[in-house]
Amino acid sequence: MDEVQVVRIKDIGPGHAGQTVRVRCWLRNKPGSKGRYFLWLRDGSGEIQAVAEQSLLSEATWADVERIGIESSIIVDGEVRAHPKNPDEFELELRHLTVVQTVSDYPIGKKSHGVDFLMKNRHLWLRGKRQSAILRIRSELSKAISDFMHERGFYRVDTPIFTPNACEGTTTLFDVDYHGDTVYLAQSGQLYNEADIGALGQVYCFGPTFRAEKSKTRRHLLEFWMLEMEAAYFDHFDNMAFQEELMAFMVRAVLSSCLADLRLLERDPAVLEPALQTPYPRVRYGETIDTINRARLASLIRDDTSERIAAQFGATTEQIYEGFLSSGLQLIQTLDDMRAAETDAEATVAEVFNYGPFHWGDDYGAPDEVAIGAQYDRPVFVTNFPVEIKGFYFKDELNDNGSERIDPEFARLKAEQPYLVREGTSGHTVAGSDLLGPEGAGELSGGSQREDDLDKLNAKIAHHKLPPEFLEWYVDLRRYGSVPHSGFGLGFERTIAWICGGAENVHIRETIAFPRMLHQFEP
Ligand code: 4AD
Ligand code: MG
Repeated sequence: MDEVQVVRIKDIGPGHAGQTVRVRCWLRNKPGSKGRYFLWLRDGSGEIQAVAEQSLLSEATWADVERIGIESSIIVDGEVRAHPKNPDEFELELRHLTVVQTVSDYPIGKKSHGVDFLMKNRHLWLRGKRQSAILRIRSELSKAISDFMHERGFYRVDTPIFTPNACEGTTTLFDVDYHGDTVYLAQSGQLYNEADIGALGQVYCFGPTFRAEKSKTRRHLLEFWMLEMEAAYFDHFDNMAFQEELMAFMVRAVLSSCLADLRLLERDPAVLEPALQTPYPRVRYGETIDTINRARLASLIRDDTSERIAAQFGATTEQIYEGFLSSGLQLIQTLDDMRAAETDAEATVAEVFNYGPFHWGDDYGAPDEVAIGAQYDRPVFVTNFPVEIKGFYFKDELNDNGSERIDPEFARLKAEQPYLVREGTSGHTVAGSDLLGPEGAGELSGGSQREDDLDKLNAKIAHHKLPPEFLEWYVDLRRYGSVPHSGFGLGFERTIAWICGGAENVHIRETIAFPRMLHQFEP
């Protein structure tokens, strides 16, 4: 046979029209009828159809066309031509076929399968149209991250996976027997990044991170990838600007390089376009409390119910809301009694015990992040979290003269709605932010300015009851040329899920080839 040019499917374009090319691929499907089959080919880079016409083929080739089943590995020679219905797309007219392996009993695809079956067969499920499109987008985003970081003059450092201490709290550590010592799988590379900036000024790490979380949500993995950036002489505002520019860069990369994959995922690119516009909105933690509580009440009762309750109690819906804020559980008891009688209110008392009103000093739950994200068409920064719910390394937000600062929303709540303020909260907030995505994405990244003052850091370590000997080296960084510095961590899989379809459409288990989730670690 003559030399036929081997091509990857994604590269087939107008320049190939009329030429015969060779594609080394697998058979996705083979619809057809007497005398003609449409071979759906995939080679990992994309998909193309080859039309197999009995009248144009040798007897032997036609016999091969007939015998190959789904997922057979084949090498196809075909002439490139524009698709008759869509001139922007190309198809092949089959000339010759080499069968590498025939398959007749591929386990996936004949009927719709449950998640358990698909997860057990993840090694094959990966080949699906949707799964492979998501993985290609993941690859593009990974490239975008390193392009952006290097364009900005950051050095990549690789931080250890075996670590002697926690960075993000001791409750989510996986321990490992280190020849008789106990070490932990890294929750974060941040503390090492902070040392690395002493050497390199501006650094990032990008690798797997481990959290022994018992959560089974659409947003949690036990092993996930995190991009973590750290920069000397960056303050909290520089840090936010950097995050939004990175996010816009990542979205732009997908919009310019992955349109075919977005199409496979039925993801409307227009939905992502607002995220190209920076700066992203910023909202203070204290300002989100009302949004959260309205969403919480709405999830407990239907709107029409709320109006009927209002009528029944001779109250306005605003008064019902006030009642929820000041005495959530009592109100819920009333709703639950009504529910028992009329099945109108949707929550049970048991649910609501975990789900009363949100107070200053509470940390967000997943539904709270969703409610905030839903207010915007692009990611939003939440700033000024109470110091009490953030880690030991966060720097406090101070007044310009360096004095301690009470958050204005805290002061207002304390004066007007003291029942919404958790006991023991100070009203001090951190110079940090969480970036929440729209469409149910939740927290995409979290970052802050770090405490760079030796005495303040020591006080925080003591306050958080952390073992001082393990952080000795970290504290040293505040002794030898301490500088103001900031950084953040971006959850790679959550970002992929949002870009590929929003958390309602794309589950986090689809965003990594072999997800590690609660009770799920095979294959
Ligand atoms: O908010 P986290 O815990 O922050 C840190 O680890 C900091 N030390 C990062 C830093 O400043 N260098 O995690 C950062 C991000 C979250 O915003 C979230 O997107 C993601 O990591 N993340 C998870 N993603 C998937 N599964 C989990 N279990 C996750 N936990 C956090
Ligand atoms: Mg966080």
